[in-house]
Amino acid sequence: MSTQSSGHSTGTISPVTARPGSRLAGDITVPGDKSISHRAMMMGGLAVGETVIHGLLEGDDVLCTAAAMRALGSEAVRAADGTWHVRGRGLGGLVEPANVIDFGNSGTGVRLLMGVLATAPFTTFLTGDASLRGRPMARITTPLSQMGARVLARGTADGKVLLPLAITGTADPVPIVYRLPMASAQVKSAVLLAGLNTPGETTVIENAQTRDHTELLFRHFGVDVRTTPANDGATAITVVGRPEISGRTVRVPADPSSAAFPLVAALLIPGSKVTVRNVGLNPRRAGLYQTLTEMGADLVIANARTEAGEPVGDITASAGALRGVEVPPERAPTMIDEYPILGVAAAFAKGDTKMRGLAELRVKESDRLAAIAQGLAACGAEVLIDGDDLIVRGTGQVPKGLAAGAAPISTNLDHRIAMAFLVMGLAAAAPVTIDDGATIATSFPAFVELMRGLGADLHSA
Ligand code: S3P
Repeated sequence: MSTQSSGHSTGTISPVTARPGSRLAGDITVPGDKSISHRAMMMGGLAVGETVIHGLLEGDDVLCTAAAMRALGSEAVRAADGTWHVRGRGLGGLVEPANVIDFGNSGTGVRLLMGVLATAPFTTFLTGDASLRGRPMARITTPLSQMGARVLARGTADGKVLLPLAITGTADPVPIVYRLPMASAQVKSAVLLAGLNTPGETTVIENAQTRDHTELLFRHFGVDVRTTPANDGATAITVVGRPEISGRTVRVPADPSSAAFPLVAALLIPGSKVTVRNVGLNPRRAGLYQTLTEMGADLVIANARTEAGEPVGDITASAGALRGVEVPPERAPTMIDEYPILGVAAAFAKGDTKMRGLAELRVKESDRLAAIAQGLAACGAEVLIDGDDLIVRGTGQVPKGLAAGAAPISTNLDHRIAMAFLVMGLAAAAPVTIDDGATIATSFPAFVELMRGLGADLHSA
């Protein structure tokens, strides 16, 4: 076994160009689910004994979480067969890290770990890359402070809480009942992870159902977590704190958010047919696939089954015409990371696609609402932002792509903007160049190679 070092990108900026003209065909697997990988690594580090993880995403973001768990005293090593072996220290057994923990680009990693650190009675310093240092952290520090954690952060003068920050956990955490002010699985998970090491019952109430990987994994590790519908249509999730948790085997399904890129490319490029195997189909993540089906996409799911509590299946996409649809705001949490690629699909569809209620997109790895609109406009699509809605006016014609000599698409350290606009270039009338492909390694390190294997023309610009 070898110890994998932390996965921070080298910082090298590498433009990539996607050229149209090749149809895609093949049968592939894409890397493991990012959300589940972070959670499995953290749970392994909190459990007693060994957790074996199959299919862990070895992207920069998750490698940052592995490095963080090591800095806190647990072991996380990759075996030659690709499985990860994590030896935890037990709840309450983490040790003070000797250095600042740098989470690179990973909002999920840093926010969920803050939940873990809220009950670790020492001080941890956290930071990240330029994108992560601009993202709001008050949504996490507010409930964790109520539980007893203390946080000293940058940006507080104007009411913000920004990285770098120091968090000092409490030895006497207080269980809380916390209603999420926004639909965020990251905030829910941070509070539930803090509740894991808090005596009594900690409850999170969510108005809109967000991804439930934390709850499913808690159950998989034997933690008592209850989900009950509230009268007003909300859902209460309660964790009973301070359980004995011991290591488990976790099988991570392929990430539906990564599978979206080759599948949408196959829908848009005439004559294409692509299958992605073993894709996670948790209904709280499957909003894109529902939306594409409503748009008339030829998507077929085969071998539907359940693995480690998560529904999975093989998805085949075949090229064909799409029509514009209305995407309701309540669907946003089930496809929050998929709007960049849906925006691209909408530009090829016939008729308006109206994506409602996208305020949260402004605080992702970049301001994705602006990035999608600017990128689509630069590629010749008609697009407008109306409040928190994004409207793409598809004509049923192939968008032009970037004009000769146009500036490359700005990805602003955002992996999903990078991949979405490369798919645009594969399907448009003219090539598309993105300013930096290095950031793709945060979630889908083999993207370029896999897409080339399907026939895509992707090259360093
Ligand atoms: C994630 C939740 C989502 C999503 C992110 C991963 C998670 O963020 O955008 O990529 O793993 O919990 P929010 O919950 O903040 O919307």
